[in-house]
Amino acid sequence: MSKVLVFTDYGGPENQELIEREVPQPGPGEIAIEVKAAGVNPADAKMRQGLFGTKRRLPSPMGLEASGVVIAVGEGVEDFAVGDEVLGSAAKGQGTFAEHALLDASKTVAKPEEISFADAAAIPVAGTAAYDVTHQVQLGPGQTLLILGAGGGVGLMAAQIGTARRFRVIGVASASKRELVESTGATFVESGDGVADRVRGLAPEGVDLVVDLVGGQALRDIAPVAKDPRNVITTVDPATAEELGGSGVKRTQEALERITAVIQRGPIDPHVVQCFSLADAQEAMAAVEGGHTAGKVVIQP
Ligand SMILES: NC(=O)c1ccc[n+]([C@@H]2O[C@H](COP(=O)([O-])OP(=O)(O)OC[C@H]3O[C@@H](n4cnc5c(N)ncnc54)[C@H](OP(=O)(O)O)[C@@H]3O)[C@@H](O)[C@H]2O)c1
Repeated sequence: MSKVLVFTDYGGPENQELIEREVPQPGPGEIAIEVKAAGVNPADAKMRQGLFGTKRRLPSPMGLEASGVVIAVGEGVEDFAVGDEVLGSAAKGQGTFAEHALLDASKTVAKPEEISFADAAAIPVAGTAAYDVTHQVQLGPGQTLLILGAGGGVGLMAAQIGTARRFRVIGVASASKRELVESTGATFVESGDGVADRVRGLAPEGVDLVVDLVGGQALRDIAPVAKDPRNVITTVDPATAEELGGSGVKRTQEALERITAVIQRGPIDPHVVQCFSLADAQEAMAAVEGGHTAGKVVIQP
């Protein structure tokens, strides 16, 4: 038997439950892993709330990304074998907050030994989002990248990507995240009232790319600092970004291999700040659902 966190109905955290089930068997294109670590994302709560639709079969396993060791491979899977260490995204309808999980082989890569299982678990969703959102508009060295929500899982990696590519990075976050944001090489700007004026104080000519990881009014407040409104890219609120002239992030297939290779070489730390056991998975969810985590939260069964 194998433990997994599921939601039993769409709605609030009261619908989450840790249950036991048979060890899942991989279907075509899937691999089964013994989970070593699973990244927790805001999307896990959005899915449970039904914001991505209400068609999943219930109870629905939770968790979108994981690292672990392959225990079985499904039909047609040629790139992986039992015993391989991997990182990847959950197969359709599956979840990674579990002792054993099914991954989509097409969204899985080998885990380099230089990357710990905990760090690896932050790559398939947050790492790839950080990669895609910083590459959609091509900037050159010395150009200015502003990140709204710079202290979260995606933001800290996006800021480090910007620094590694020799952009001038401005990271907007709440005061408690100043040191963390500055550790990425970014210049810190405190979020909240007057944020656009504080940014203009640093970049009177405007910024070349706004990466939005927050959305809503915070995005409306910051978007005017972009030199070109088309260079406002969001991971979270495409409707508002489009209204302002920008767009939603376009996800790419190559991001997974590329960001994994960069993290393997060392310049980017996924900043895993909290690890929870599977028994405490509900606490891990609550920490991320609060909307103000610093860095990445992972679950280690
Ligand atoms: N489209 C995709 O494929 C994709 C992939 C990954 C993530 N996402 C989305 O991208 C967003 C960020 O993800 P994440 O994993 O980085 O989330 P996270 O780790 O929860 O971080 C979000 C950050 O936003 C900050 N924040 C909240 N309100 C703010 C405000 N008014 N001004 C400035 N910062 C504010 C929070 O820090 P403070 O305490 O400093 O406010 C927090 O650090 C989420 O909505 C997620 O669902 C989308």
